[in-house]
Amino acid sequence: MTKLRWGLLSTANINRRLIPAIRASARGELVAVASRQRETAESYATKWNIPHAFGSYEELLASDEVDVIYNPLPNHLHAEWSIRAMKAGKHVLCEKPMALTLAEVDAMIETAEKTGRVLAEAFMYRHHPQTKIVGEWVQNGRLGQITLVRATFNFAFRSRQNIRLVPEYGGGCLWDVGVYPVSFAQYVMGSSPTWVLGDQWLGDTGVDEDFAGQLHYQDGRMAQISSSFRTPFYTYAEVIGTEGRLYLNRPFVGVNDAERQLVFYPKDGTPEVIPVPEQELYLGEVEDMHAAILDGKPPYLTLAETRNHIRTVLALYESARTKQVVWLTDQEEA
Ligand SMILES: NC(=O)c1ccc[n+]([C@@H]2O[C@H](COP(=O)([O-])OP(=O)(O)OC[C@H]3O[C@@H](n4cnc5c(N)ncnc54)[C@H](OP(=O)(O)O)[C@@H]3O)[C@@H](O)[C@H]2O)c1
Repeated sequence: MTKLRWGLLSTANINRRLIPAIRASARGELVAVASRQRETAESYATKWNIPHAFGSYEELLASDEVDVIYNPLPNHLHAEWSIRAMKAGKHVLCEKPMALTLAEVDAMIETAEKTGRVLAEAFMYRHHPQTKIVGEWVQNGRLGQITLVRATFNFAFRSRQNIRLVPEYGGGCLWDVGVYPVSFAQYVMGSSPTWVLGDQWLGDTGVDEDFAGQLHYQDGRMAQISSSFRTPFYTYAEVIGTEGRLYLNRPFVGVNDAERQLVFYPKDGTPEVIPVPEQELYLGEVEDMHAAILDGKPPYLTLAETRNHIRTVLALYESARTKQVVWLTDQEEA
């Protein structure tokens, strides 16, 4: 097999970013889409020029035409449908957050192991060269000792009719966009925090629409993360060390070359703009799936990292709810 055949589980908005990435990859082709309504699947398939349309998710999973599923369902359906897909013999690229509880994450990992299918969380920014450069700078000591990571991701809704505002669907700004700063902090620090302190503002539907968190890591290193559904689009990240800091104005989204800047502010001397190779933002995660499935290469973003960042998010929510520091005791390196 040289080309993997992709199926889209639903007609989610975010598909419009995955479709060009699948089509841009030499080893993938988009063959199917499923929707809860057959007419929706059919009109979507026509619009996007997709060969097969299925009127239920079950039909897509039963199809022999599909090797790998992209799961962009609302958050509360990630675990259930990823597990069903793997049991039906499909590999799965599942949207972030991969699940809403550790029990779900563990069941997903267990199913991947039992079925021998590839499962990965779709954190596209982790595959972008900009993020990899940040990791290299941290590893090679250019920033000295890392003391603090700060990152935020905020946007405001145009309409309040949104899965992100429904508590039972795993709504909330931390689950939706705050997971990026949490994942970024974990990536830079190389582990989960020792303890966290979270604070939230709940909107009228009962989900957090502002969230801020303080994360404490070994050796006194810290991260400060925040997210919001109430303020205009705003995002940045910075990694601060004893020898200087890296500043990213588009760490997670909008990694388009005109807007993006990665700047090094050294302890002494003038700031330096670091060149970042161009790469379509969603291509990396698609090609990583291809390498994992076709070449047997372990996925770049490991399931251990996914489990750790979800554990951290859950601890932040618990802290915000109880107004207490929450300790993450059994430290697993990610
Ligand atoms: N990585 C990224 O850049 C990125 C960006 C945006 C979103 N996301 C993630 O992608 C996922 C989807 O986000 P989205 O904004 O694309 O969502 P969306 O447009 O609301 O799509 C969700 C889809 O799920 C299906 N669905 C099944 N049960 C549903 C229910 N009870 N209520 C509503 N929809 C239901 C619907 O498809 P059918 O009607 O066709 O069955 C719907 O189109 C989320 O997990 C989100 O975190 C990731």
